[in-house]
Amino acid sequence: MNVILFGPPGAGKGTQGDLLAASTGLRKISTGDLLREAVRDGTPLGQEAKRYMDAGELVPDQVILGLVKETLAAIGNEKGFILDGFPRTLPQARALDVMLAELKRPISAVLMLDVDDDSIVKRLGGRWSCQQCGAVYNQFSDPPKKPAVCDKCGYGLVQRKDDEPATVQRRLDVYRQQTAPVLEYYRKGVTPVHTISGDRPIDDVQFDLRRMLGL
Ligand code: AP5
Repeated sequence: MNVILFGPPGAGKGTQGDLLAASTGLRKISTGDLLREAVRDGTPLGQEAKRYMDAGELVPDQVILGLVKETLAAIGNEKGFILDGFPRTLPQARALDVMLAELKRPISAVLMLDVDDDSIVKRLGGRWSCQQCGAVYNQFSDPPKKPAVCDKCGYGLVQRKDDEPATVQRRLDVYRQQTAPVLEYYRKGVTPVHTISGDRPIDDVQFDLRRMLGL
């Protein structure tokens, strides 16, 4: 099974993708996580990507496509994957079709997490992430036991620079202009597209998401 988790910034794609990966053994591929790792490692790709990410803009398609192609090629005989944050433009969606046709791994479903803008701005203002293990918390809905300390590995938690309200607004605009048309692209094709309200408790969203996948 190969799934695309779609939705605006902060809709819960990463949270739901992690839960789904843990219960199914599917591999989660998050382009945002891959880019943040490259930024942390100070690679040339990371240095180029950082200025786009900090400004809430999309990283150029050719950079992302190189990253995704390499990651998909390394998947070997794993059960399948969950794409989180990719594709985000029409050229990315078309290029993904070509890559997956070559790999003979079609997309089974597109799951769209729907959350309104006000909830997103509030949510992202309360997001804290672990620099060590990548765990994600939220001061309003899913706080760590000790403020700014990861429950899982004890490392310090940080807030993402692109979660500042002005940058979140820009990310929402970019989503509407460049990413929302990708959903229409899939709606016109043969892959099933399901919309799930993401503005509910995390476990309820996961329950529906699994139901949509027949799990
Ligand atoms: P990326 O990391 O992909 O950011 P995003 O899509 O904006 O998504 P987020 O990670 O902000 O949110 P999410 O939907 O995963 O929500 P989460 O589960 O964390 O990309 C970052 C940047 O990288 C982009 O701006 C761009 O520059 C670049 N980039 C990445 N991919 C690219 C691509 N394909 N092309 C070009 N550029 C690309 O949840 C958010 C918070 O809410 C957390 O605190 C969580 O605990 C909480 N939460 C989750 N679910 C719920 C719930 N149900 N109720 C209450 N709180 C909840």
